[in-house]
Amino acid sequence: MPDERPPAGVRPALPVMLRVVEVCRENDEMVTVYLARADEAEAAAMGLELAAFVPGRFFMVWLPGLDEKPYAVSSLDAERVGLTVQQRGPFSTAMGALRPGERVGLRGPFGRGFWGLQDHGDGGRVALIGGGCGTGVVAPMRELLPQAAVVQGSRTAGVVLRLPALDGQVVFTDDGTEGCRGFPTEWLAAQLRAGALDAVYTCGPEAMMVGVATLCREAGVPCQVCMERYMKCGIGVCGQCECDGRRVCVEGPVFTTEELAEMPSFGRRRRDKAGRIIVLDSCPSGSQAAPS
Ligand SMILES: Cc1cc2nc3c(=O)[nH]c(=O)nc-3n(C[C@H](O)[C@H](O)[C@H](O)COP(=O)(O)OP(=O)(O)OC[C@H]3O[C@@H](n4cnc5c(N)ncnc54)[C@H](O)[C@@H]3O)c2cc1C
Ligand code: FES
Repeated sequence: MPDERPPAGVRPALPVMLRVVEVCRENDEMVTVYLARADEAEAAAMGLELAAFVPGRFFMVWLPGLDEKPYAVSSLDAERVGLTVQQRGPFSTAMGALRPGERVGLRGPFGRGFWGLQDHGDGGRVALIGGGCGTGVVAPMRELLPQAAVVQGSRTAGVVLRLPALDGQVVFTDDGTEGCRGFPTEWLAAQLRAGALDAVYTCGPEAMMVGVATLCREAGVPCQVCMERYMKCGIGVCGQCECDGRRVCVEGPVFTTEELAEMPSFGRRRRDKAGRIIVLDSCPSGSQAAPS
């Protein structure tokens, strides 16, 4: 998989305010906030280039008076852009409380997204593997790769993400309350053994992505991973998202398994919101590491 990524394109513009048109509850923890794409030419003139979005790139989302946080796009059509949000703390809870007519600030898109998607035809030999709200990141790839297999890992049935783009997905739950009991890595290992895949794209909990990347590297199958790090500026200035000398917001968030092999912190260490390095659990609860 040659590195043919376009330049990241940094746009340190002011947020452009977009109107909320709908807020859909997806499951016990996630909502999708849909924003109108109206006045796109005007938005582009102010630095918000929705047309430059590719899956894996992200936007900085501003709620006036509260904060600005990074979010991926889980759907994009001619009329609206969808942000699927897992409600965790103050910001994401406020996102879920938005009502139609309210306005949200958007800057971006930022970072380098997944690439080479157009090389796989209809995607019949491609796997898109998502975990938790990371499944929303891989969802827009389904439009480009309609025959790709989508595999989702979730803690339990109540938090499975069911966006229309994910129709026909294979679901694994840690507790077996929906789909197969276990982890997407079990499905992946079998597919790789059968020689059924040419490429794998993944976003989700880091333990799951470590397992996916390890299996793909061992099988010699190209794999791209969308990494999450705490981000503040989103444009490579503050250093908050640094991982082994790379700014995840600019050089990533998507990396190849070859790049990750040079990033020993992947799966082991990250920075907290104060910038301190914290050690990740080697086997967090619900670990989705590769089966031995
Ligand atoms: C490139 C990128 C894309 C993302 N896309 C999505 C998405 O599509 N959907 C989604 O639900 N979440 C996404 N996130 C994570 C999202 O930004 C945070 O979960 C969210 O801001 C939580 O804020 P909070 O105030 O609700 O929670 P808090 O209580 O403040 O934090 C809860 C946890 O969220 C994470 N978090 C909080 N702030 C940030 C931040 N600035 N950068 C990274 N992680 C943070 C940390 O792990 C933290 O422990 C993305 C993160 C990154 C880096
Ligand atoms: S978030 Fe500031 S450098 Fe990446």
